[in-house]
Amino acid sequence: MKIGVARETAPDERRVALIPPELDPLIKAGHELVVEAAAGRPAGFLDAAYAERGAVIGSRGETLAAEVVLFVRAPGSFPGEIDVLLAGLRPGQTIVGLTDPLGTPDVAAALAERGVTSFALELLPRITRAQAMDVLSSQAALAGYKAALVAAERLNKILPMLTTAAGTLPPARAMVIGAGVAGLQAIATARRLGAVVCAYDVRPTAREQVESVGGTFVDLGLETAAAEGSGGYAAAMDDDFYRRQQAALGAVVAAQDIVITTAQVPGRRAPILVTADMVHGMAAGSVIVDIAAAQGGNCELSRPDQVTDIGGVTILAPTNLPATVPAHASRLYAKNIGNFLRHVVVEDAVRVDRDDAIIADTLVSHAGQITATRVRELLGLAPERPDPTTGERDSPPGSLAGPGVDRPADHDSSTPDGTHAVSGRTGG
Ligand code: NAI
Repeated sequence: MKIGVARETAPDERRVALIPPELDPLIKAGHELVVEAAAGRPAGFLDAAYAERGAVIGSRGETLAAEVVLFVRAPGSFPGEIDVLLAGLRPGQTIVGLTDPLGTPDVAAALAERGVTSFALELLPRITRAQAMDVLSSQAALAGYKAALVAAERLNKILPMLTTAAGTLPPARAMVIGAGVAGLQAIATARRLGAVVCAYDVRPTAREQVESVGGTFVDLGLETAAAEGSGGYAAAMDDDFYRRQQAALGAVVAAQDIVITTAQVPGRRAPILVTADMVHGMAAGSVIVDIAAAQGGNCELSRPDQVTDIGGVTILAPTNLPATVPAHASRLYAKNIGNFLRHVVVEDAVRVDRDDAIIADTLVSHAGQITATRVRELLGLAPERPDPTTGERDSPPGSLAGPGVDRPADHDSSTPDGTHAVSGRTGG
């Protein structure tokens, strides 16, 4: 098959979907690789390195003409560019990447209408078989590491304890809220820098993991087994729970120099855990790094990719920390997407086997239809009907004639009930 590696067009995106060493197994399997000129340069991988491994360096048009086109962030998953992408794609092609179908379901609908098969890597199931393809985990680990560095760089203190002839400086105190993949790396990094680190997560099983990386688990007395949903993710809780959680967190947050928030619930807006009152309760000079910002943020006052100063408390809300370490982020992403391709591309065809959980969960559009249940719901489309004789799924006639097909100029990802859909997760 001809496989294209597109140059990323999202603002500030410096990652690339495949790095030169990851071409080898694909070329060995008989595929032809077309890499868009300068696709890897922002991450430190020059065209010559791809060409040496056997890739053809192509124009955007030549790259988008490949049978399978690989992205980190597919155009349309961020404002602008979708029309350019659609103009370059033809029916029967396949795109793979972080396509953000839960945040931009209208783009998924446009891809379906164009007859493009699209796979969204953020929808991979959290199952053992899929771990080697799990871009969310690989990118979140880097985001967590970088969040601790960004916080340390902004803080008006040093992190470790320092004893000098002029006196002893106590270690900085850091709290990580949300101890998943990113949170655990943030704890480990802040610890290595010398801070005293505590962490909180709604899932009771996080305690052991926090302790294993040197953090102290903050017990708010609220953690329940019900807080753990499927696949190890947090479940959405009710408003009363979030109110009690905010009240209990207030005193702990007020005592910190650094607060790093990473809490997310898949497919929903990130919960508000640090309220405006809690920010006002922190000492001037403290720093909040809210890496759930792309999903709406955990801090009430954070503004995506902005630095906010509230009474001397600095709030940072970076939405794409992995792109700040593009060489390593691309290396892990490329390994993930290479493993995904080996699972999905069999000889010279894309395998659309919807009995396979990895394919079924990541497939968003195929053969003119939206195939992902959650995306169909967001678009107000009826569920697909299984054929009683073959068991195959069939979309009701006119099933793409839902909101989002006649795409408005501005993306509006409001759900039919008026709530705002946010990206499942966007890799940091
Ligand atoms: P995430 O990015 O969805 O969320 C980050 C963290 O925020 C989670 O630990 C979550 O419990 C926490 N959180 C959500 N709501 C909260 C609230 N109200 N208060 C405090 N914390 C809250 O999750 P992530 O980091 O992608 O993974 C979470 C867990 O999933 C991992 O720790 C692991 O157990 C599991 N996992 C399993 C994998 C597998 O292949 N089996 C792969 C990766 C993760």
